[in-house]
Amino acid sequence: MTKHVSVMPQKAIELLDVKEDGVYVDGTLGRGGHSKLILERLKKGKLYCFDLDEEAIEESKEFLKDYDNVVYIHDNYMNMNKYVDQVDGILLDLGVSSPQFDEAVRGFSYRYDGPLDMRMNKEDELSAKEVVNGYDEERLAKVLWEYGEEKNSRRIARKIVESRPIETTLQLVEVIKSALPAKVLSKKGHPAKQSFQAIRIEVNHELDSLKHFLDTFDSILKIDGRVVIITFHSLEDKMVKYCFKRLTTVDDDKKIALRPEDVKQADYELLNHGDKADQQEIENNTRAKSAIIRGVRKRHGKDSN
Ligand SMILES: C[S@@+](CC[C@H](N)C(=O)[O-])C[C@H]1O[C@@H](n2cnc3c(N)ncnc32)[C@H](O)[C@@H]1O
Repeated sequence: MTKHVSVMPQKAIELLDVKEDGVYVDGTLGRGGHSKLILERLKKGKLYCFDLDEEAIEESKEFLKDYDNVVYIHDNYMNMNKYVDQVDGILLDLGVSSPQFDEAVRGFSYRYDGPLDMRMNKEDELSAKEVVNGYDEERLAKVLWEYGEEKNSRRIARKIVESRPIETTLQLVEVIKSALPAKVLSKKGHPAKQSFQAIRIEVNHELDSLKHFLDTFDSILKIDGRVVIITFHSLEDKMVKYCFKRLTTVDDDKKIALRPEDVKQADYELLNHGDKADQQEIENNTRAKSAIIRGVRKRHGKDSN
């Protein structure tokens, strides 16, 4: 099975600033790479790990078997406030892991032939098959445009509808290619990349999960707690950037004060301005190429509970 190489591991740990007796959440366990680094620093604390994918949980249980302070939860990270409270730090490393992507049978890949699936959680009803074969042309074009930023969304959607039924990932790739003009096909990068990204985001409701998390994490984060998020495309990064900006700035009228000590501080402090992996990491791990990591620390405001 393909190994998953964690992205920006050192930066993630540095931004989380793990306290040895703290309570932490890894919202996207994957193959447990980031979790292991957190656990190495946790002496008396606890780590709660979430993943939608049961295989990821089973593999990680084996990988992290030396630690007895880990709780594994098969659920969406957006539901973490049902399980935890008063946490010192939350890490999200969004998207798909290498094993998910590289196992043809999971249906995420435009490189290997597999069924049209793309579900992170095999218990979910919606799969890529329903999106590709069941959505009407307009709805399909909207998905491709909004979640894939695919400029040829309408042409691709029309071709998909004309070519139904489509059963496998490589059949879908051929349909997408047949919809694209030659000058697009001759460009660098795989011609189906954006469409596959869009369908995957739709199947797994990825942006809805992120939005819900961003709207609710404050309620479970302790004062001095940190949230660190790694994103892999601009749609996610824009959401995180905008949320962190809102949390770390105060309204202009509240900034006007006669004495410096009266200047109102925002409830959160920005820990960085969006770091990227360095060249060396990108050479060793191509997944790191599009990654951006951002973090915030809760300065004051209501303690969670
Ligand atoms: C990029 S991988 C994480 C890799 C991990 N940090 C590591 O070092 O091995 C993303 C993982 O998050 C999971 N995932 C994605 N969205 C999720 C969600 N909304 N709730 C829970 N897990 C999710 C995926 O199933 C996948 O296993």
